[in-house]
Amino acid sequence: MKTYIKDFANKVGETVEVWGWLYNKRSSGPLAFLEIRDGSGWTQAVAAKSNLSESVWEAVEKVSQESSVKIAGVVAAHPKKAGVYELQVSDFSIIQLASEYPIAKKEHGPDFLMDHRHLWLRSKRQWAILRVRDVIILAINEYLHGQNFIKVDSPVFTPNACEGTTTLFPVPYFDLGTAYLSQSGQLYIEAAIASVGRCYDFGPVFRAEKSKTKRHLTEFWMMDAEAAFVEHDENLSLQEGLVRHIIKRSLENCAEELAILERDIEKLKKADAPFTRYTYDQAIKKLNELGSDIKYGEDLGNDDEGILTKDSDVPVFIEKWPKEIKPFYMKLDQDGKLALNDDLIATEGAGEIIGGSQREEDVNVIIDRMKKEGLDQSEYEWYLDIRRYGSVPHSGFGIGLERVVRWITGTEHIRECIPFPRTIGRLRP
Ligand code: 4AD
Ligand code: MG
Repeated sequence: MKTYIKDFANKVGETVEVWGWLYNKRSSGPLAFLEIRDGSGWTQAVAAKSNLSESVWEAVEKVSQESSVKIAGVVAAHPKKAGVYELQVSDFSIIQLASEYPIAKKEHGPDFLMDHRHLWLRSKRQWAILRVRDVIILAINEYLHGQNFIKVDSPVFTPNACEGTTTLFPVPYFDLGTAYLSQSGQLYIEAAIASVGRCYDFGPVFRAEKSKTKRHLTEFWMMDAEAAFVEHDENLSLQEGLVRHIIKRSLENCAEELAILERDIEKLKKADAPFTRYTYDQAIKKLNELGSDIKYGEDLGNDDEGILTKDSDVPVFIEKWPKEIKPFYMKLDQDGKLALNDDLIATEGAGEIIGGSQREEDVNVIIDRMKKEGLDQSEYEWYLDIRRYGSVPHSGFGIGLERVVRWITGTEHIRECIPFPRTIGRLRP
């Protein structure tokens, strides 16, 4: 019977059929050890010449790396390693004999691997990252629904900026002029809360970021959440609850994947505890004490985020930033100087994973702030209507999926955290 490798534990002693790909092969005389991947997992299939017909053994000898194969055999528990199973081959056939595979066992440079991303995805590491990414996506959906949010999709073609005009991607749009690829669906889901109360979007967003760093993509996935009648403190609690749920689900459901990635899971376990909160002011003072030359009023750089979280087991919120370095939509504190916002900085040098804030709900205040940012009010009239018709205190945040995947998997470069990365220097495959 067709069986997934992940279900082998319940099939010991049974004859099963596995459909998949040959990842690796070692032969020693009349024995062949075939490492097989079927999408659900990896197993070793042991083929003995003495148990097989001549033509089947010929196929075993001939099969090349990454050929697609169909194998029948008996599931056996590994004699020494608990929880490990193998397949004793009784029949074997090749579905397609692969040409010589370009990704050999030897070390390849990152450019070669990125050029072969469509094949590189089959490697054990990439398999593990794809699966952790999926578990994180599920965890996000699950947590938000548990908190009474529903998913409301936002558009990708937009007429205006959400996160500053310098990182917009323009697209010619028929007779209507120029459209821009969305930088964040926030403004749209702010509109939707007046209908459904709490909602989120989850999809690709685009930023023409010229930064060539290990944390920047030009196309990445963002989940924007927005909730009516939620103010700054509760906004932070929702973010913390979400991130701790992601950690829990990753640990519960990705033991094999995190082991392949050699992730130190003790560190992840420790991060699932109450998060630290610094005000921006405290963060700057602390950074100066720790040797950074950052000045009040400047944005934190990658190094600053690293310094600030170096000795922390848990992610760190930095809240209440000077309004001058934050966007027009953020609500200000009573003195009108600081934004009621936060960045959430993950542990182990992973950097910012969330940006969020309470939103300005007064139409006149927000118009004033838009003017100061040089935004064209006429493009935002629909957004201002949210403040004209039943305005309410509300808050939200956006979490960058690949940043979280990078942190949870302990991956050095963000380009491995999305199936087909887009960066300033890469559009293919
Ligand atoms: O902090 P950002 O710019 O916040 C917003 O876009 C808000 N409108 C979100 C909201 O309140 N609904 O982006 C949110 C997150 C960042 O914390 C980071 O994790 C990720 O998006 N991010 C990127 N990820 C990869 N590559 C980039 N170029 C990114 N820019 C931001
Ligand atoms: Mg940010």
